[in-house]
Formats: sequence, C-alpha cells, structure tokens
Amino acid sequence: MADSVYDRQTAADYRTAREVPRDGLTAWRQAVAEAAPLTPGSTVLDVGAGTGAFAAAFHDWYGVRVLAVEPAEAMRALIPDSPGIEVLAGTAEALPVPDGCADAAWLGSVLHHLTDLEAAARELRRALRPGAPVLIRNTFPGRCDRDLRVRYFPETARSIDGYPSVDQVCAAFATAGFARVALRSLPQQSAPTLGAFADGLRREADSKLRALTDTQYADGLARLRAAAAAAPDEPAVSWMDLLVLA
Ligand SMILES: C[S@@+](CC[C@H](N)C(=O)[O-])C[C@H]1O[C@@H](n2cnc3c(N)ncnc32)[C@H](O)[C@@H]1O
Repeated sequence: MADSVYDRQTAADYRTAREVPRDGLTAWRQAVAEAAPLTPGSTVLDVGAGTGAFAAAFHDWYGVRVLAVEPAEAMRALIPDSPGIEVLAGTAEALPVPDGCADAAWLGSVLHHLTDLEAAARELRRALRPGAPVLIRNTFPGRCDRDLRVRYFPETARSIDGYPSVDQVCAAFATAGFARVALRSLPQQSAPTLGAFADGLRREADSKLRALTDTQYADGLARLRAAAAAAPDEPAVSWMDLLVLA
C-alpha cells in the first residue's frame, strides 16, 4: 500500500515540499535530546523513515547509528547513503530488526499510516531495550489549530479528525507496556517566509491537501498568498506534537 501512495514522483515531491529545513528544527533537536539519552554509540530506530530527513538529522546531531525502516521503495531510494544509516524495507507492524537492538524509536508523521497500532506497539516493545523511549512526532485530532496547513486550509482538520488521538495511541501502546511520559507542542520553521512556504507546497505530496476539493485548495492557497503579501517577512512556523512513551 505504501508503495502505491509514495511512487517516485510523490517521493521526490515529498522531499521538496515536506522535509523541514534542518535549521527550522531547533526546538525539535532540543526536545528530543531532553527526552532520550542519545549519545554516539546509541541506536535509534526510525520507523516510517520516508526520505530520511530525520534519520540524517539524528545521525548528524547526536552521532547515533540509525536503523531506518521504510516500506515504500521510492522513499527508501532517497534516504541519504551514509555509514551511520542502515536502510531497511519493512513496516512498524513487522519490524525487520532483532530484539532489544535500539535505545529509542522515532515515528515522524507515520502514526496515521499504521494499519495496526497495537501490533506496532508490540513490535517496538520487542525491538527496544528495556526503558527505551518511543518518540512520536505527529498531528493529533483536536490539537492541530497551529498546524500551518490547518490555519490556511481549515478543511484539512477533517482528515486529522480521522487520525489516532493521543488517548487512542496511549491505550494501544499501554497493551505493550508503554506509558505516557510527556506531550509537548513544538514549533518548526517550515520556510523562511509564508510566500516561500506557498511556493514550496506540493499538493500531491500531502494526503491532507490531496483530500481537499480543488475549490478548497484554491481558496486556501489564496488565503496563504494574501497573508504572505500582508506580512512578507513573517516566517512560516507550524506546530506539531511530540508524544513520549516509555
Ligand atoms: C508522511 S511520511 C513521513 C516520513 C518521515 N518520517 C518524515 O517525518 O519525514 C509517512 C511515511 O510512513 C510510511 N509508512 C506507511 N505505512 C507504514 C507502516 N505500516 N509502517 C511504517 N511506515 C509506514 C510511508 O511509506 C511514508 O514514508
């Protein structure tokens, strides 16, 4: 399924439009360091690694080895080739890694793609060393008002209403022995300005934008362009949640 959604063109668009520039992730870099003991020699399991933006960032920021698990061949093909990143075909529900191999797991914008949250939780329990945290970066229903796409394309909140809620995720992961440790909203600078953000949008690379009607998309783009014209220097800042379980 993931392969049919993320074909070669969509994967290239994802890299262009959805990868957040590294210097826009300062708050995330700090928050992850606070939530997980990541030091050189540690191993991070990046589940649903996509085009590897976070795998590469984690390797560069913390000196860790990254096991990047990704089902879509077209996405895997774009993960940077680095001795610190091992790219593996697989899913969260059937992780292609040995028991107790990782010191933390990272799930970036992947929860809503999973077919079986409890199976994923069981697999993460198996793959992580005892006490190791699961770091989830996601948009959650009822907590997405500061997501830039929701701000300018308010109908995207309807797609997010169908995502697993914080309570549903915590309940599913509790079945595998994980408990909620922290939930924080964090900013990211998606582009230097709202105008640059509008220029970089690729509707096909984003399931929430794909779900809009053409009119809803055109209206949202017009709102975004108007905001960019009114505040040409305003940076494009969006917020997402970091949910930590251990
Ligand atoms: C929105 S992308 C996020 C990519 C990356 N984590 C990031 O933050 O840039 C979601 C990714 O999840 C992958 N995916 C879909 N189903 C999955 C599953 N069952 N297990 C793991 N990954 C999955 C998709 O192929 C896609 O690359």
